[in-house]
Amino acid sequence: MRNVLIIDYTGRGHAFADLFVRTDPDVTAHLVPGCGAISEDRIISAPWLDMYDPGPVVEYAQQIDADLAMVAHPRPLTEGFIDALRAGGIPTIGPDRSATRLESSKKFTKELCFKYGIPTAGYRYFEDPEAAIEYVRSVDAPHVVKGNESCQGNGVFICETEAEAIDAITRLMVTRDFGPGGDTIIIEEKLVGRELLYFALVGGEHHLMLPMAVDYPLSDDGNHGVMCGGMGAFSPSPDDTPEEIERFERQMMRPLLAAINAEGLDYTGVIYVGCMLVGDQLYLIEINARMGDPEAEVVFPRITTNFTEVCTAILDGKLGLQPPLTITDECFVNVVASQGPTREPGKSYPGWPYGEYGRNYPITGLDAVDQDRCRVFYGSARTKPDGRLVTDGGKCVNLVGRGATIEDAAVNAYLAIAEVNFQGIRYRNDIAKAMPWD
Ligand code: AMP
Ligand code: GLY
Repeated sequence: MRNVLIIDYTGRGHAFADLFVRTDPDVTAHLVPGCGAISEDRIISAPWLDMYDPGPVVEYAQQIDADLAMVAHPRPLTEGFIDALRAGGIPTIGPDRSATRLESSKKFTKELCFKYGIPTAGYRYFEDPEAAIEYVRSVDAPHVVKGNESCQGNGVFICETEAEAIDAITRLMVTRDFGPGGDTIIIEEKLVGRELLYFALVGGEHHLMLPMAVDYPLSDDGNHGVMCGGMGAFSPSPDDTPEEIERFERQMMRPLLAAINAEGLDYTGVIYVGCMLVGDQLYLIEINARMGDPEAEVVFPRITTNFTEVCTAILDGKLGLQPPLTITDECFVNVVASQGPTREPGKSYPGWPYGEYGRNYPITGLDAVDQDRCRVFYGSARTKPDGRLVTDGGKCVNLVGRGATIEDAAVNAYLAIAEVNFQGIRYRNDIAKAMPWD
């Protein structure tokens, strides 16, 4: 395998590209859309290509003679990039459009769980806000109200009272604050326990566990603010013990894979399984049909197994013959430099993830980052034709400190981020210092 194409415009895509070139001296990784500031040897930033339109990406894959394409972002996954790349003759890893429903439709996944006896919170599905409000009036709180489809990392409300639940239903379905993903909703019972995230590589009926990570899904220090998919992460996780992995594989992963295969879903690539441990039983909270971001940036640097060999095994249907991945003990801490509030003449932006945000602000200081102590994975950051690096979205740059301990890695990440600047830069100050459930 010589040419690998990775389709993802977040830091996760850059971390995937880095994983390939670091563990295989012969591979070249082409990153779509990439970022002109990426300087690693053998990572090629592709031209900017539309993530809603698979056609040009398939053409590009054919032009570079890709031996493998990897679709790692939920948007191109739901837009059918996997199916289009395969139809264009490119060997591709990722769940096809039908399997991607495990992430894009909560109702689909709930139905799968109930059909195959996989533990998950009880739920009701609603297409009509009046019926949903009537339901929460008739059942005691708490309620967990969720948009059925993606609400861009928002759209989940843990409601302790009936009034909060009615407010959440109204915002999702009536005022549509979170877009079309909230047009239909589910209302779940609240699970009380410890949240655990697991990642595995899937190929047919087989899987290989990836290292675990701890994610910080809330926007603000002290675990306040809004759900945003993650302001930082660290790995290894204190929960990554042989006993917990054994429990996960027994109680969740094997039954889930059996269900996925029994339904005829074509699933390859990373599966992200969010669980709640209640007593000694795991319950499924959510599936993401791809690796997490910002978790990828702390998990992938720990893998030392030749990753193209693993991918070849997946493509050949031989993942079951692969030994477990080899993992370093080194620790990684990702602190995300995000686009916070800014002002421009006549306009003021609340910033990501609170609302609209500005773009095109020059990013400075990355050249002062000590590369031996901190990896830089680019997210929503682009180079202008004149070579200047500018912000281009919410999660702009990932500063991934490394060290022998989590504490050392956190020091290195925060030393690095202190060097970086752009208008409205905002990050959490407590990543890997306090836990996300404190
Ligand atoms: P989701 O996007 O479905 O993963 O939900 C986002 C977060 O809300 C999860 O990571 C949990 O912290 C929380 N959550 C979701 N569903 C439940 C539930 N049924 N009970 C308790 N907490 C939940
Ligand atoms: N960090 C959670 C996600 O990628 O959805």
